[in-house]
Amino acid sequence: MAEYPLEPFRIKVVEPIRLTTREERQRVLEEAGYNLFAVRSEDILLDFFTDSGTTAMSDDQWSGIMLGDESYAGCRNFFHLKEVQETIFGMPYFVPTHQGRPAENMLMDLYVKPGLVVPNNMHFDSTEGNIIVRGGKAPNLAIDEAWQPTVQHPFKGNMDIVKLRDCIERVGVENVPLILMTVTNNTGAGQPVSMRNIRETKAVADDYAIPFWFDAARYAENAYFIKLREPGYADKTPLEIAQEMFSYADGFVMSSKKDGLVNIGGLFGCRDAALFDQVKVMMILREGFLTYGGLAGRDLEALARGLMEGVQESYLKYRIEQTRYFGERLLEGGVPIVEPVGGHAVYLDMLRFLPHIPQSCFPGVAFVCRLFLDSGVRAVELGSLAFAHTDPDTGEVKYPGLELVRLCLPRRVYTRSHIDYAADAIIQIYKDREQLRGLKLVWEPPIMRHFTARLEPLP
Ligand code: F0G
Repeated sequence: MAEYPLEPFRIKVVEPIRLTTREERQRVLEEAGYNLFAVRSEDILLDFFTDSGTTAMSDDQWSGIMLGDESYAGCRNFFHLKEVQETIFGMPYFVPTHQGRPAENMLMDLYVKPGLVVPNNMHFDSTEGNIIVRGGKAPNLAIDEAWQPTVQHPFKGNMDIVKLRDCIERVGVENVPLILMTVTNNTGAGQPVSMRNIRETKAVADDYAIPFWFDAARYAENAYFIKLREPGYADKTPLEIAQEMFSYADGFVMSSKKDGLVNIGGLFGCRDAALFDQVKVMMILREGFLTYGGLAGRDLEALARGLMEGVQESYLKYRIEQTRYFGERLLEGGVPIVEPVGGHAVYLDMLRFLPHIPQSCFPGVAFVCRLFLDSGVRAVELGSLAFAHTDPDTGEVKYPGLELVRLCLPRRVYTRSHIDYAADAIIQIYKDREQLRGLKLVWEPPIMRHFTARLEPLP
Protein backbone atom coordinates (compact mmCIF):
# COMPACT_ATOMS: atom_id res chain seq x y z
CA MET A 1 0.00 0.00 0.00
CA ALA A 2 1.23 3.47 -0.86
CA GLU A 3 2.19 5.54 2.17
CA TYR A 4 1.07 9.13 2.62
CA PRO A 5 3.50 11.58 4.24
CA LEU A 6 2.72 13.70 7.28
CA GLU A 7 2.15 17.32 6.24
CA PRO A 8 4.70 19.60 7.95
CA PHE A 9 2.05 22.34 8.36
CA ARG A 10 -1.52 22.79 9.54
CA ILE A 11 -4.30 24.65 7.71
CA LYS A 12 -5.29 28.17 8.79
CA VAL A 13 -7.34 29.41 5.82
CA VAL A 14 -9.61 27.34 3.60
CA GLU A 15 -10.99 27.94 0.12
CA PRO A 16 -14.33 26.35 -0.81
CA ILE A 17 -14.54 24.23 -3.96
CA ARG A 18 -17.72 23.58 -5.88
CA LEU A 19 -19.32 20.27 -6.76
CA THR A 20 -20.90 20.18 -10.21
CA THR A 21 -23.09 17.63 -11.99
CA ARG A 22 -22.03 15.58 -15.00
CA GLU A 23 -24.64 17.44 -17.12
CA GLU A 24 -23.13 20.80 -16.13
CA ARG A 25 -19.65 19.56 -16.95
CA GLN A 26 -20.81 18.24 -20.34
CA ARG A 27 -22.14 21.69 -21.20
CA VAL A 28 -18.96 23.39 -19.92
CA LEU A 29 -16.82 21.08 -22.03
CA GLU A 30 -18.78 21.76 -25.22
CA GLU A 31 -18.62 25.52 -24.65
CA ALA A 32 -14.88 25.27 -24.05
CA GLY A 33 -14.29 23.54 -27.40
CA TYR A 34 -12.99 20.49 -25.50
CA ASN A 35 -10.02 22.56 -24.34
CA LEU A 36 -9.69 22.70 -20.55
CA PHE A 37 -7.72 25.96 -20.80
CA ALA A 38 -11.07 27.55 -21.68
CA VAL A 39 -12.89 26.25 -18.58
CA ARG A 40 -13.51 28.57 -15.64
CA SER A 41 -11.82 27.42 -12.46
CA GLU A 42 -15.15 27.72 -10.63
CA ASP A 43 -16.32 24.77 -12.69
CA ILE A 44 -13.36 22.63 -11.59
CA LEU A 45 -13.49 20.49 -8.46
CA LEU A 46 -9.80 19.58 -8.11
CA ASP A 47 -7.30 21.43 -10.27
CA PHE A 48 -4.23 19.41 -11.13
CA PHE A 49 -3.65 21.49 -14.28
CA THR A 50 -0.43 23.08 -13.06
CA ASP A 51 1.82 23.56 -10.05
CA SER A 52 2.62 27.04 -11.36
CA GLY A 53 1.42 29.96 -9.28
CA THR A 54 -0.98 27.66 -7.43
CA THR A 55 0.97 27.36 -4.15
CA ALA A 56 -0.65 27.99 -0.76
CA MET A 57 1.59 30.58 0.88
CA SER A 58 2.59 30.37 4.53
CA ASP A 59 1.57 32.71 7.35
CA ASP A 60 5.14 34.05 7.25
CA GLN A 61 4.79 34.90 3.55
CA TRP A 62 1.38 36.53 4.08
CA SER A 63 2.69 38.61 6.95
CA GLY A 64 5.63 39.61 4.73
CA ILE A 65 3.10 40.92 2.22
CA MET A 66 2.08 43.58 4.77
CA LEU A 67 5.70 44.72 4.79
CA GLY A 68 5.69 45.42 1.06
CA ASP A 69 7.56 48.62 0.24
CA GLU A 70 5.95 49.96 -2.91
CA SER A 71 8.62 52.54 -3.75
CA TYR A 72 9.41 52.70 -7.47
CA ALA A 73 13.15 52.34 -7.00
CA GLY A 74 15.18 50.59 -4.31
CA CYS A 75 12.40 49.06 -2.22
CA ARG A 76 13.60 47.14 0.83
CA ASN A 77 11.98 43.91 -0.31
CA PHE A 78 14.28 43.88 -3.35
CA PHE A 79 17.28 43.90 -1.02
CA HIS A 80 15.83 41.03 0.99
CA LEU A 81 15.32 39.10 -2.25
CA LYS A 82 18.86 40.01 -3.31
CA GLU A 83 20.25 38.48 -0.11
CA VAL A 84 18.27 35.29 -0.65
CA GLN A 85 19.32 35.15 -4.31
CA GLU A 86 22.94 35.40 -3.28
CA THR A 87 22.48 32.67 -0.65
CA ILE A 88 20.83 30.14 -2.94
CA PHE A 89 21.90 30.97 -6.50
CA GLY A 90 25.01 33.03 -5.91
CA MET A 91 24.77 35.14 -9.05
CA PRO A 92 26.46 38.55 -8.92
CA TYR A 93 23.74 40.10 -11.10
CA PHE A 94 20.01 39.44 -10.98
CA VAL A 95 16.63 40.99 -11.60
CA PRO A 96 13.13 39.90 -10.69
CA THR A 97 10.65 39.50 -13.56
CA HIS A 98 6.90 39.14 -13.48
CA GLN A 99 7.11 35.44 -14.31
CA GLY A 100 9.46 32.93 -15.94
CA ARG A 101 8.86 33.67 -19.60
CA PRO A 102 9.89 37.34 -19.64
CA ALA A 103 13.21 36.13 -18.23
CA GLU A 104 13.38 33.54 -21.03
CA ASN A 105 12.36 36.18 -23.51
CA MET A 106 15.31 38.39 -22.53
CA LEU A 107 17.68 35.42 -22.53
CA MET A 108 16.68 34.47 -26.07
CA ASP A 109 16.94 38.08 -27.23
CA LEU A 110 20.49 38.09 -25.92
CA TYR A 111 21.54 34.88 -27.61
CA VAL A 112 19.22 33.62 -30.38
CA LYS A 113 19.33 34.66 -34.03
CA PRO A 114 17.77 32.89 -37.03
CA GLY A 115 19.37 29.48 -37.62
CA LEU A 116 21.04 29.22 -34.20
CA VAL A 117 20.55 26.10 -32.10
CA VAL A 118 19.86 25.98 -28.35
CA PRO A 119 20.16 22.44 -26.94
CA ASN A 120 18.40 21.51 -23.70
CA ASN A 121 17.65 18.25 -21.94
CA MET A 122 14.05 19.13 -22.83
CA HIS A 123 12.59 22.54 -23.51
CA PHE A 124 9.41 23.68 -21.82
CA ASP A 125 6.81 24.93 -24.33
CA SER A 126 7.34 28.66 -23.63
CA THR A 127 11.14 28.24 -23.85
CA GLU A 128 10.85 26.41 -27.13
CA GLY A 129 8.39 29.05 -28.36
CA ASN A 130 10.80 31.85 -27.44
CA ILE A 131 13.54 30.18 -29.52
CA ILE A 132 11.37 29.25 -32.49
CA VAL A 133 9.82 32.72 -32.92
CA ARG A 134 13.38 34.07 -33.33
CA GLY A 135 14.09 31.54 -36.09
CA GLY A 136 16.19 29.33 -33.82
CA LYS A 137 16.08 25.59 -33.27
CA ALA A 138 15.42 23.93 -29.92
CA PRO A 139 16.59 20.28 -29.85
CA ASN A 140 15.77 18.07 -26.86
CA LEU A 141 18.86 16.01 -25.99
CA ALA A 142 17.89 14.13 -22.82
CA ILE A 143 19.15 10.57 -22.40
CA ASP A 144 17.15 7.90 -24.27
CA GLU A 145 15.60 6.65 -21.02
CA ALA A 146 13.70 9.95 -20.80
CA TRP A 147 11.52 8.74 -23.65
CA GLN A 148 10.98 5.26 -22.17
CA PRO A 149 8.20 5.56 -19.56
CA THR A 150 8.71 2.12 -17.99
CA VAL A 151 12.49 2.19 -17.71
CA GLN A 152 13.70 2.89 -14.17
CA HIS A 153 16.51 5.40 -13.91
CA PRO A 154 17.27 7.71 -10.96
CA PHE A 155 18.02 10.73 -13.15
CA LYS A 156 15.91 10.49 -16.26
CA GLY A 157 16.21 14.24 -16.77
CA ASN A 158 19.92 13.92 -17.59
CA MET A 159 21.39 15.48 -20.71
CA ASP A 160 22.85 12.92 -23.11
CA ILE A 161 26.45 14.09 -23.24
CA VAL A 162 27.20 12.22 -26.49
CA LYS A 163 24.15 13.69 -28.21
CA LEU A 164 25.16 17.15 -26.95
CA ARG A 165 28.69 16.90 -28.35
CA ASP A 166 27.36 15.48 -31.64
CA CYS A 167 24.86 18.31 -31.94
CA ILE A 168 27.55 20.96 -31.40
CA GLU A 169 29.91 19.26 -33.88
CA ARG A 170 27.16 18.82 -36.46
CA VAL A 171 25.80 22.37 -36.45
CA GLY A 172 29.13 24.04 -35.65
CA VAL A 173 30.06 25.63 -32.35
CA GLU A 174 29.47 29.12 -33.78
CA ASN A 175 25.79 28.18 -34.17
CA VAL A 176 25.26 27.15 -30.55
CA PRO A 177 24.97 30.38 -28.52
CA LEU A 178 24.08 28.66 -25.24
CA ILE A 179 23.29 25.33 -23.61
CA LEU A 180 20.22 25.17 -21.40
CA MET A 181 19.34 22.60 -18.79
CA THR A 182 15.86 22.33 -17.28
CA VAL A 183 15.78 21.21 -13.64
CA THR A 184 13.66 19.24 -13.04
CA ASN A 185 12.73 18.28 -16.57
CA ASN A 186 9.08 19.30 -16.74
CA THR A 187 8.37 18.20 -20.31
CA GLY A 188 10.05 14.86 -19.52
CA ALA A 189 7.77 14.10 -16.55
CA GLY A 190 9.43 16.17 -13.82
CA GLN A 191 12.51 13.94 -13.77
CA PRO A 192 15.66 15.19 -12.06
CA VAL A 193 19.18 15.75 -13.37
CA SER A 194 22.14 14.42 -11.37
CA MET A 195 24.96 16.63 -10.08
CA ARG A 196 27.35 14.50 -12.08
CA ASN A 197 25.42 15.20 -15.26
CA ILE A 198 25.35 18.93 -14.47
CA ARG A 199 29.14 18.82 -14.09
CA GLU A 200 29.55 16.85 -17.33
CA THR A 201 27.32 19.24 -19.25
CA LYS A 202 29.25 22.18 -17.86
CA ALA A 203 32.50 20.50 -18.98
CA VAL A 204 31.17 20.21 -22.57
CA ALA A 205 30.07 23.85 -22.45
CA ASP A 206 33.56 24.84 -21.27
CA ASP A 207 35.28 22.77 -23.99
CA TYR A 208 33.45 24.79 -26.61
CA ALA A 209 33.32 28.05 -24.63
CA ILE A 210 29.50 28.04 -24.77
CA PRO A 211 27.57 29.61 -21.86
CA PHE A 212 25.67 27.12 -19.69
CA TRP A 213 22.34 28.21 -18.19
CA PHE A 214 19.63 26.64 -16.06
CA ASP A 215 15.91 26.83 -16.56
CA ALA A 216 15.52 26.54 -12.82
CA ALA A 217 11.76 26.51 -12.12
CA ARG A 218 11.95 23.33 -10.00
CA TYR A 219 15.55 23.47 -8.85
CA ALA A 220 14.73 22.69 -5.18
CA GLU A 221 12.90 19.49 -6.04
CA ASN A 222 15.87 18.58 -8.23
CA ALA A 223 18.25 19.23 -5.30
CA TYR A 224 16.18 16.98 -3.04
CA PHE A 225 16.26 14.14 -5.58
CA ILE A 226 20.07 14.49 -5.68
CA LYS A 227 20.09 14.14 -1.90
CA LEU A 228 17.92 11.02 -2.08
CA ARG A 229 19.52 9.32 -5.05
CA GLU A 230 23.07 10.44 -5.76
CA PRO A 231 25.98 8.92 -3.83
CA GLY A 232 27.78 11.49 -1.69
CA TYR A 233 24.83 13.84 -1.15
CA ALA A 234 22.74 12.13 1.56
CA ASP A 235 24.24 14.26 4.34
CA LYS A 236 24.04 17.57 2.52
CA THR A 237 21.10 19.95 2.90
CA PRO A 238 18.96 20.79 -0.14
CA LEU A 239 20.33 24.34 0.13
CA GLU A 240 23.95 23.15 -0.05
CA ILE A 241 23.08 20.95 -3.03
CA ALA A 242 21.34 23.85 -4.80
CA GLN A 243 24.37 26.05 -4.16
CA GLU A 244 26.62 23.49 -5.80
CA MET A 245 24.25 23.11 -8.77
CA PHE A 246 24.27 26.84 -9.45
CA SER A 247 28.02 27.11 -8.98
CA TYR A 248 28.38 25.39 -12.38
CA ALA A 249 26.03 27.77 -14.24
CA ASP A 250 26.79 31.00 -16.08
CA GLY A 251 23.26 32.12 -15.41
CA PHE A 252 19.69 31.05 -14.83
CA VAL A 253 16.16 31.95 -15.74
CA MET A 254 13.44 30.89 -13.40
CA SER A 255 9.72 30.91 -12.97
CA SER A 256 9.34 31.54 -9.23
CA LYS A 257 5.75 30.32 -9.44
CA LYS A 258 6.92 26.79 -8.67
CA ASP A 259 9.74 26.25 -6.13
CA GLY A 260 9.63 29.95 -5.16
CA LEU A 261 6.33 29.08 -3.43
CA VAL A 262 4.56 32.19 -4.70
CA ASN A 263 1.68 32.94 -7.02
CA ILE A 264 3.57 35.20 -9.41
CA GLY A 265 7.17 36.09 -10.26
CA GLY A 266 10.36 35.12 -12.02
CA LEU A 267 14.10 35.61 -11.80
CA PHE A 268 16.96 36.24 -14.19
CA GLY A 269 20.52 35.90 -12.86
CA CYS A 270 23.95 35.90 -14.48
CA ARG A 271 27.67 36.29 -13.89
CA ASP A 272 28.54 38.44 -16.92
CA ALA A 273 28.52 42.20 -16.26
CA ALA A 274 28.41 43.18 -19.95
CA LEU A 275 25.48 40.88 -20.59
CA PHE A 276 23.71 42.33 -17.60
CA ASP A 277 24.14 45.84 -18.99
CA GLN A 278 22.00 44.76 -21.95
CA VAL A 279 19.45 43.23 -19.59
CA LYS A 280 19.08 46.53 -17.76
CA VAL A 281 17.85 48.21 -20.93
CA MET A 282 15.48 45.38 -21.84
CA MET A 283 14.08 45.35 -18.32
CA ILE A 284 13.17 48.99 -18.34
CA LEU A 285 11.43 48.63 -21.69
CA ARG A 286 9.53 45.50 -20.73
CA GLU A 287 9.27 44.82 -17.01
CA GLY A 288 9.91 48.10 -15.24
CA PHE A 289 12.74 49.29 -13.01
CA LEU A 290 15.39 46.78 -11.99
CA THR A 291 14.39 46.64 -8.34
CA TYR A 292 10.79 45.56 -8.98
CA GLY A 293 10.73 43.82 -12.36
CA GLY A 294 7.01 43.82 -13.03
CA LEU A 295 6.13 42.88 -9.46
CA ALA A 296 4.88 44.74 -6.41
CA GLY A 297 7.20 45.14 -3.42
CA ARG A 298 4.93 42.78 -1.51
CA ASP A 299 5.38 40.10 -4.17
CA LEU A 300 9.16 40.39 -3.81
CA GLU A 301 8.85 39.89 -0.05
CA ALA A 302 6.64 36.82 -0.44
CA LEU A 303 9.20 35.42 -2.89
CA ALA A 304 12.21 36.10 -0.67
CA ARG A 305 10.48 34.21 2.16
CA GLY A 306 9.07 31.50 -0.16
CA LEU A 307 12.47 30.69 -1.64
CA MET A 308 13.91 29.93 1.79
CA GLU A 309 10.87 27.80 2.74
CA GLY A 310 11.20 25.97 -0.58
CA VAL A 311 14.61 24.53 0.31
CA GLN A 312 13.57 23.27 3.76
CA GLU A 313 14.07 19.57 3.97
CA SER A 314 10.81 18.78 5.86
CA TYR A 315 8.84 20.58 3.16
CA LEU A 316 10.67 18.88 0.28
CA LYS A 317 10.30 15.44 1.86
CA TYR A 318 6.53 15.92 2.14
CA ARG A 319 6.35 17.36 -1.35
CA ILE A 320 8.17 14.52 -3.10
CA GLU A 321 6.43 11.83 -1.03
CA GLN A 322 2.98 13.27 -1.75
CA THR A 323 3.64 13.08 -5.48
CA ARG A 324 5.01 9.56 -5.10
CA TYR A 325 1.87 8.53 -3.18
CA PHE A 326 -0.33 9.68 -6.06
CA GLY A 327 1.80 7.75 -8.55
CA GLU A 328 1.82 4.60 -6.42
CA ARG A 329 -1.96 4.66 -6.03
CA LEU A 330 -2.26 4.75 -9.81
CA LEU A 331 0.29 1.97 -10.28
CA GLU A 332 -1.62 -0.18 -7.79
CA GLY A 333 -4.68 0.35 -10.02
CA GLY A 334 -2.70 -0.79 -13.07
CA VAL A 335 -2.59 2.68 -14.69
CA PRO A 336 0.42 3.23 -16.99
CA ILE A 337 2.43 6.19 -15.70
CA VAL A 338 5.95 7.46 -16.28
CA GLU A 339 8.27 5.79 -13.80
CA PRO A 340 9.83 6.62 -11.49
CA VAL A 341 7.39 9.30 -10.32
CA GLY A 342 8.89 12.78 -10.78
CA GLY A 343 8.81 15.81 -8.53
CA HIS A 344 5.81 18.00 -9.16
CA ALA A 345 3.39 15.80 -11.02
CA VAL A 346 2.33 12.34 -12.06
CA TYR A 347 2.44 11.80 -15.81
CA LEU A 348 0.14 9.25 -17.46
CA ASP A 349 1.46 7.46 -20.52
CA MET A 350 -1.27 7.75 -23.13
CA LEU A 351 0.47 5.52 -25.67
CA ARG A 352 -0.13 2.62 -23.28
CA PHE A 353 -3.34 3.95 -21.71
CA LEU A 354 -5.22 4.52 -24.99
CA PRO A 355 -3.31 2.55 -27.66
CA HIS A 356 -6.45 2.43 -29.85
CA ILE A 357 -6.43 6.23 -30.35
CA PRO A 358 -3.71 7.37 -32.80
CA GLN A 359 -1.65 10.45 -31.92
CA SER A 360 -3.36 12.32 -34.77
CA CYS A 361 -6.63 12.01 -32.79
CA PHE A 362 -5.22 13.39 -29.51
CA PRO A 363 -5.51 10.54 -26.97
CA GLY A 364 -4.35 12.84 -24.15
CA VAL A 365 -7.14 15.32 -24.87
CA ALA A 366 -9.66 12.47 -24.99
CA PHE A 367 -8.49 11.40 -21.54
CA VAL A 368 -8.45 14.84 -19.88
CA CYS A 369 -11.94 15.59 -21.20
CA ARG A 370 -13.26 12.27 -19.88
CA LEU A 371 -11.60 12.83 -16.50
CA PHE A 372 -13.20 16.26 -16.22
CA LEU A 373 -16.58 14.89 -17.27
CA ASP A 374 -16.50 11.98 -14.82
CA SER A 375 -15.01 13.75 -11.81
CA GLY A 376 -14.50 17.52 -12.23
CA VAL A 377 -10.72 16.95 -12.02
CA ARG A 378 -8.60 19.03 -14.43
CA ALA A 379 -5.38 17.61 -15.87
CA VAL A 380 -3.31 18.84 -18.81
CA GLU A 381 -2.35 17.17 -22.07
CA LEU A 382 1.35 17.30 -22.92
CA GLY A 383 1.32 15.26 -26.08
CA SER A 384 0.41 15.73 -29.71
CA LEU A 385 -1.79 18.79 -29.16
CA ALA A 386 1.00 20.57 -27.26
CA PHE A 387 4.07 19.32 -29.10
CA ALA A 388 3.34 17.93 -32.61
CA HIS A 389 5.08 19.98 -35.31
CA THR A 390 4.40 20.33 -39.00
CA ASP A 391 7.64 20.31 -40.99
CA PRO A 392 7.61 23.63 -42.92
CA ASP A 393 9.43 22.02 -45.89
CA THR A 394 7.58 18.73 -46.30
CA GLY A 395 4.27 19.49 -44.56
CA GLU A 396 4.72 16.25 -42.67
CA VAL A 397 3.43 16.17 -39.06
CA LYS A 398 5.98 15.01 -36.50
CA TYR A 399 4.48 13.62 -33.31
CA PRO A 400 6.29 13.83 -29.98
CA GLY A 401 8.01 10.72 -28.62
CA LEU A 402 6.02 10.99 -25.41
CA GLU A 403 2.24 11.28 -25.35
CA LEU A 404 1.56 12.34 -21.79
CA VAL A 405 -1.12 13.70 -19.51
CA ARG A 406 0.15 15.58 -16.49
CA LEU A 407 -1.51 15.78 -13.09
CA CYS A 408 0.35 18.43 -11.15
CA LEU A 409 0.23 18.84 -7.42
CA PRO A 410 -0.09 22.47 -6.39
CA ARG A 411 2.21 22.98 -3.40
CA ARG A 412 0.64 22.58 0.07
CA VAL A 413 -2.89 22.74 -1.38
CA TYR A 414 -4.53 19.33 -1.61
CA THR A 415 -4.91 16.63 1.03
CA ARG A 416 -4.80 12.86 0.85
CA SER A 417 -8.54 12.51 0.22
CA HIS A 418 -8.30 14.85 -2.77
CA ILE A 419 -5.57 12.69 -4.23
CA ASP A 420 -7.49 9.49 -3.51
CA TYR A 421 -10.56 10.95 -5.22
CA ALA A 422 -8.56 11.78 -8.36
CA ALA A 423 -6.74 8.42 -8.33
CA ASP A 424 -10.04 6.50 -8.04
CA ALA A 425 -11.51 8.46 -10.98
CA ILE A 426 -8.45 7.77 -13.15
CA ILE A 427 -8.41 4.06 -12.27
CA GLN A 428 -12.08 3.80 -13.23
CA ILE A 429 -11.43 5.43 -16.62
CA TYR A 430 -8.56 3.01 -17.13
CA LYS A 431 -10.99 0.12 -16.60
CA ASP A 432 -13.39 1.66 -19.17
CA ARG A 433 -10.64 2.87 -21.51
CA GLU A 434 -11.96 1.11 -24.62
CA GLN A 435 -15.00 3.43 -24.60
CA LEU A 436 -12.85 6.52 -25.18
CA ARG A 437 -12.73 8.08 -28.67
CA GLY A 438 -10.33 10.64 -30.16
CA LEU A 439 -10.98 14.23 -31.22
CA LYS A 440 -10.30 16.45 -34.20
CA LEU A 441 -9.20 20.06 -34.38
CA VAL A 442 -11.77 22.65 -35.32
CA TRP A 443 -9.47 25.69 -35.00
CA GLU A 444 -5.77 26.20 -34.18
CA PRO A 445 -3.39 29.19 -34.00
CA PRO A 446 0.00 29.07 -35.80
CA ILE A 447 2.09 28.26 -32.68
CA MET A 448 1.50 27.02 -29.12
CA ARG A 449 -1.89 25.81 -30.19
CA HIS A 450 -2.81 23.88 -27.05
CA PHE A 451 -3.61 27.09 -25.17
CA THR A 452 -6.39 28.23 -27.48
CA ALA A 453 -7.26 25.43 -29.94
CA ARG A 454 -10.85 24.22 -30.25
CA LEU A 455 -11.69 20.58 -30.82
CA GLU A 456 -14.66 18.27 -31.20
CA PRO A 457 -15.07 14.56 -30.51
CA LEU A 458 -14.91 12.13 -33.41
CA PRO A 459 -18.10 10.15 -33.97
N1 F0G B 1 10.34 26.76 -17.60
C1 F0G B 1 9.73 25.68 -17.11
C2 F0G B 1 10.48 24.42 -16.91
C3 F0G B 1 8.37 25.75 -16.79
O1 F0G B 1 7.76 24.67 -16.29
C4 F0G B 1 7.67 26.97 -16.99
C5 F0G B 1 6.26 27.09 -16.69
C6 F0G B 1 8.38 28.07 -17.50
C7 F0G B 1 9.71 27.92 -17.80
C8 F0G B 1 7.71 29.40 -17.74
O2 F0G B 1 7.44 30.03 -16.56
O3 F0G B 1 4.94 30.21 -16.51
O4 F0G B 1 6.37 31.59 -15.00
O5 F0G B 1 6.29 32.07 -17.42
N2 F0G B 1 5.51 26.11 -16.47
C9 F0G B 1 4.11 26.10 -16.11
C10 F0G B 1 3.61 24.69 -16.14
C11 F0G B 1 3.26 27.06 -16.86
O6 F0G B 1 2.37 24.51 -16.04
O7 F0G B 1 4.40 23.75 -16.22
P1 F0G B 1 6.19 31.02 -16.37
